[in-house]
Amino acid sequence: MKIKEIKLEDLNAEKFIEEKTKKISSVVGDGLVVNALSGGVDSAAVTMIGYKALGDRLKTYFVENGLMREREAQKIVSLFKALGVHVEIVDARKEFFSALKGVTDPEEKREAITQSFYKDIFGKLVRESGAKYLLQGTNYTDVEETVAGIKRQHNILEQIGIDTQEQFGYKVLEPIIELRKSGVREVAEALGLPEEIYNRPPFPGPALAARVIGEVTPERVEIIRIATKIVEDELWNSGAFQYLAILHEDRVTGIREGKRDFGMQIEVRCWESKDALTGSPTRLSYDILDKLAQRITTEVSGVVSVTYNITKKPPSTIEAV
Ligand code: XMP
Repeated sequence: MKIKEIKLEDLNAEKFIEEKTKKISSVVGDGLVVNALSGGVDSAAVTMIGYKALGDRLKTYFVENGLMREREAQKIVSLFKALGVHVEIVDARKEFFSALKGVTDPEEKREAITQSFYKDIFGKLVRESGAKYLLQGTNYTDVEETVAGIKRQHNILEQIGIDTQEQFGYKVLEPIIELRKSGVREVAEALGLPEEIYNRPPFPGPALAARVIGEVTPERVEIIRIATKIVEDELWNSGAFQYLAILHEDRVTGIREGKRDFGMQIEVRCWESKDALTGSPTRLSYDILDKLAQRITTEVSGVVSVTYNITKKPPSTIEAV
């Protein structure tokens, strides 16, 4: 792989920020840059570096693709407002759901999301603004997993031979591409981001679509959105690396009010990991698991079964898609 990793022990966050800020200023000159902010630690850190370098010449967008967690857009906009960064919400729900219609294969789903993001949404935003660059928070692990052929991470483009200028009409700037998550967290803290951001558990680029097995429809995303909220409520203080809910495609027979109910299954995963490359399930107490099952089967309509993943990565991966 061409990109060289900066290991945590070799990282000087202040120096890193200074170097990347200078680099962005010199590459961009007096032009404009469009910035993709999802609210995760990677894109948040990159937004702050870009803002330091370019100020108002950085146009930051939060793409509401209909696949995000509950109230995510509003939360991120107000958090960045407090830091002086204006974030515009782009409503792209229609584009994403129509690209995902009828798609069930995991890699095809990822490809549909990549095309919607980069070609349709950012292609249009870049064209309309007259910018030449898109700034985004790709990290070292994203590249590694994609290049190794494990999963095509939604944000990997040039590293797998995609000429973004030719295909989408802009170049991509990726200031944190040499860092893993732990390094990004250090940089994010040094940038003055609040702890709720720099310590935020990872969330995948394809968002809740990575947690819906089978077709991604607004109705199925809503189910996993509610289950995700419950899992996050119950596990935020578990100390785990990441925790999530997955909606399965297969239905199973259950009982509701004494009658047969052929209902949905939700799988809960909770991971111990350092860098997402390998992981093992957290040994959650049975009381916690019991509470999760109780809440999910009562609060998420139509769910009759909740399971807990006990498989390590590998052979599992962290997300289901
Ligand atoms: P997997 O599921 O491959 O996930 O074990 C490893 C880590 O990466 C996150 N993830 C993604 N992040 N774009 C991203 O920016 C993606 O397409 C993507 N897919 C997975 C996942 O949540 C985990 O932390």
